Amino acid sequence: MEIEVVVSGQACGATVRGVDLTEPLMSETVEAIRRAWLEHHVLAFPGQPMNDDDLERFTLSFGPFGDDPFIAAIPGRTNVIAVKRKADETSPLFAENWHSDWSFQQTPPAGTCLRSITVPPVGGDTLFANQHLALDQMPADLRSKIEGKMAVHSASKSYAPSGYLGDDDSPDRSMDIRPSVDAEKTQLHPLIRSHPETGRLGLFSTVGYIVGIEGMAEDEARELLVDVYRWQTRPEFVYTHKWEPEMLVMWDNRSVLHRATGGYEGHDRLLHRTTVGERI
Ligand code: SIN
Repeated sequence: MEIEVVVSGQACGATVRGVDLTEPLMSETVEAIRRAWLEHHVLAFPGQPMNDDDLERFTLSFGPFGDDPFIAAIPGRTNVIAVKRKADETSPLFAENWHSDWSFQQTPPAGTCLRSITVPPVGGDTLFANQHLALDQMPADLRSKIEGKMAVHSASKSYAPSGYLGDDDSPDRSMDIRPSVDAEKTQLHPLIRSHPETGRLGLFSTVGYIVGIEGMAEDEARELLVDVYRWQTRPEFVYTHKWEPEMLVMWDNRSVLHRATGGYEGHDRLLHRTTVGERI
């Protein structure tokens, strides 16, 4: 059976129907999903009453598991984490800043899969910003400033003991975050990077996980990164994803930035997440 792919009409994203993700997938179906994923960067599969076995099997159809540091896996699993927030939680929102997952790793995950379990009746959208489009439309003077530059990536501002998810994080947080000095490590990646599978150029990651630019003074780099940030997260590059219960979303970290949003105070939110490692 052919999958049905309906584009969002926004900067990226498509909804996929005509496939049952609670069952193993035929290789032709996996290839069709991969093609749609590379083209639209974010795929939403509504009406999928999956469990964590299904989530793991789906993830492994697209590559090995990624390596997920700083957040403990849920009990009984090694590759599934819970993105969760209690109705009365007061801790700052998790993943509220734009980012590409684990971009500070030597080989960051190609993709991320997020399966909804408890979806609040309002708020809690996930936003995605298309970084191919952002680069294609970037003003030439800004682009010339980052052309050929290597960004210094690090998780230090988030997951180091001194980071905002570190030792002084809110005791009220329901997510199982494990800060570590490992987060101080740095890794270089080009600011403009070609997609490992499609070859298409895009901006890779953003300030937050990017803490500097190789060979550039700290102040100058910060100013440039803020200019890039303002451009790469403009509304015209953004797809707003609205969750439903029993929905799976898979996005391409090499093509999009993403961020969580709030607006659901008084309601629980729970999703289970895996990452897809790079297969080449
Ligand atoms: C994430 O960045 O993995 C979480 C996104 C969300 O909670 O919407």
